[in-house]
Amino acid sequence: MGSVSLKIGDGTARFKRATVCSFAVNILMLFSVIITNLFALYAFTYSPKQNIPNPFHHPHKNLSLISQHVSLIMKEIDSSQRKLAQMEKQLLGYDTLDLSRPNLATELKFFLQHHQLPLGKDSRTGITEMVASVGHSCEKSADLLSQYMSYKVFGPCPDDWILAQKLILKGCEPLPRRRCFAKTVPKVGLTSLPASLWKPVGEKILTWSGLGCKNFNCLNNKKLSKDCAGCFDLVNETQKYIKTRTKNDFLIDDVLAMGSGGIRIGFDIGGGSGTFAARMSEKNVTVITNTLNIDAPYAEFIAARGLFPLFLSLDHRFPFYDNVFDLVHATSGLDVGDKPEKLEFLMFDIDRILRAGGLFWLDNFYCANDEKKKTLTRLIEKFGYKKLKWVIGEKIDAGGSGKPELYLSAVLQKPVRV
Ligand SMILES: *[C@@H]1O[C@H](CO)[C@@H](O)[C@H](O)[C@H]1NC(C)=O
Ligand SMILES: *[C@@H]1O[C@H](CO)[C@@H](O)[C@H](O)[C@H]1NC(C)=O
Ligand SMILES: *[C@@H]1O[C@H](CO)[C@@H](O)[C@H](O)[C@H]1NC(C)=O
Repeated sequence: MGSVSLKIGDGTARFKRATVCSFAVNILMLFSVIITNLFALYAFTYSPKQNIPNPFHHPHKNLSLISQHVSLIMKEIDSSQRKLAQMEKQLLGYDTLDLSRPNLATELKFFLQHHQLPLGKDSRTGITEMVASVGHSCEKSADLLSQYMSYKVFGPCPDDWILAQKLILKGCEPLPRRRCFAKTVPKVGLTSLPASLWKPVGEKILTWSGLGCKNFNCLNNKKLSKDCAGCFDLVNETQKYIKTRTKNDFLIDDVLAMGSGGIRIGFDIGGGSGTFAARMSEKNVTVITNTLNIDAPYAEFIAARGLFPLFLSLDHRFPFYDNVFDLVHATSGLDVGDKPEKLEFLMFDIDRILRAGGLFWLDNFYCANDEKKKTLTRLIEKFGYKKLKWVIGEKIDAGGSGKPELYLSAVLQKPVRV
């Protein structure tokens, strides 16, 4: 055991060198053996006070008592062993993923193994080990995860981003890191901002593997989502946010004016091909667009426009600190199903990252029925936001049923809570 110096961040800390883990396991092992033996000794020497005859004094008369004692001892040994295995697992490996199951990729075990800090406990953070994080639901998809983690170390990664996305959608988020080189796509013909915002993106610089569509023509003719009808056609997209089609559409300049000049960074949920972020970029507002690649190469397309795509499902807590955004913009992509609690968790997370005085712009949120509208309205009112704009309108769903559909658009201002 020696004492060594370690540079952490800006300071130098001193730690004792110790292999905490194996030491703890040894102690446990010893403890378990002693307890087991004590119990055995107790069981064999214990003589009941009642009239039950001690079988050791009358060995020929009654053997059933002995076997009772023995079976008790066996039970105790068994339970100690199980306890020991459990504690060992907690000390050595990941807590919820059973690393001892067969056919688990070796790389997954490597990734998940807890790593003791080489110099023991860090004095500033109090941590003693590094724990790799992986979504707890990965346990349910262990086979897919193992497939995802089967690759040649330092070799090329399999072309399997669709498998990765499938895992994410099953709640296996975050995914483990990998030690392989992701396929590169040469990004030729990129221009600088602001020209890049509206310049057609080359089909060759996107990844189409795993997608039904292999070109923009296909994407633009496919009804991808309510917020992305032909959204990969940038000529068509230029109308958005600067021209209104219905009373549910607000103009960017109007909304920015409501923020009295303090709108500089924003977060867009369900932002399609990034057009909201593009328009905001022209107003010198930096917007991060949250998107997965469901049926289309959204993330790469947004990046090709010179905008920031965040590849994250809506089930994931937003990776931002509290009170950082001046603006959160959300479309029908905010819809997370029928469970009211689901929407509440999401709304609280949005509220958390939005600063007081910041704006929450609900843009053409599709209300499947009146009940949905009421639920959402009630929820928003519970947050105590100031309604700067509130419009409920009907639109005929082009290409859909032809029936009018209900949409809610609103600009809400987060209050200061004390
Ligand atoms: C042995 O002991 C048990 C309990 O002490 C008693 O119930 C049983 O009848 C005994 N058997 C014989 C064969 O004496
Ligand atoms: C073009 O934009 C309009 C809305 O302005 C939309 O309804 C239409 O589906 C888009 N069409 C295509 C082919 O992009
Ligand atoms: C954005 O910033 C640039 C450079 O600072 C400035 O010239 C331009 O006027 C700004 N645009 C808007 C809409 O504020």
